[in-house]
Amino acid sequence: MPTAIVTGASRGIGRAIAQDLARDHRVIATYRERADAAESLQKQTGCSIFQCDISSRGHRHALIAFARERFGQLDLLVNNAGMAPRERSDILQATEESFDEVLAVNAKGPHFLTQLAAQWMMEHGSGRIVFITSISAYALSVNRAEYCMSKAALSMSAGLYAQRLAGSGIGVFEIRPGVIRTDMIAGVEQIYEERIASGLLPQGRMGEPEDVARAVRAIATGALDYSTGQVIDVDGGFRLRSL
Ligand SMILES: NC(=O)c1ccc[n+]([C@@H]2O[C@H](COP(=O)([O-])OP(=O)(O)OC[C@H]3O[C@@H](n4cnc5c(N)ncnc54)[C@H](OP(=O)(O)O)[C@@H]3O)[C@@H](O)[C@H]2O)c1
Repeated sequence: MPTAIVTGASRGIGRAIAQDLARDHRVIATYRERADAAESLQKQTGCSIFQCDISSRGHRHALIAFARERFGQLDLLVNNAGMAPRERSDILQATEESFDEVLAVNAKGPHFLTQLAAQWMMEHGSGRIVFITSISAYALSVNRAEYCMSKAALSMSAGLYAQRLAGSGIGVFEIRPGVIRTDMIAGVEQIYEERIASGLLPQGRMGEPEDVARAVRAIATGALDYSTGQVIDVDGGFRLRSL
């Protein structure tokens, strides 16, 4: 059975990805704080769970060591773990502390976890890597600049690894979710619903975590194996513009 690591899988998008993959993969699902949520995923799906703060070098090495011991080879890494700024602050007031935290979790952590996973995949000459970025990699929100900057950086990380690994049998993909119904947007869900009702999204509905999980499945099955470095928008058509 193929093997997969899904980071940030205790809740939201990562949980839906892990639930879906667990049907035909051996999955290690990571979490940061919510052991209760991770344990319920483990009970529900049979996934292994592992605590890993993605911003910690020690935790990243421990995760890969755990996976090596469990799996022997790694077929799929899904870089999903991420955070919103603890507070939305205008770019003219936002703090360096928030910048450092968000960049460490959303950009540096997955970039260097991928480095470890890619070295391992190169040993066996196969594998697939997915980066969950965001429409915020290009859409501007001046009240969470650090989030936008972290996702733009992560998008570049995906492109760089795609180029570096293309000749080694390892495909790299970026999935850009739009507005997806999870805890991350709970505080602004009503505002987004109103904006969607006013035409924000051509497809006219908020995304669900399962919408993203289906895109990961397409990659995991190998259906996209003659592509790499591809950006897949899972955003209800947000990117479309019309006059
Ligand atoms: N929801 C959206 O509208 C949306 C849109 C575009 C992109 N995204 C991206 O999709 C990904 C998942 O978001 P979500 O909406 O599912 O978020 P969520 O519901 O808040 O879940 C976040 C997950 O990431 C984990 N996590 C948070 N900080 C971590 C850290 N430092 N190290 C390791 N794990 C950490 C959490 O673990 P605990 O449960 O232990 O806290 C949880 O499993 C993120 O990268 C996010 O930026 C989300």
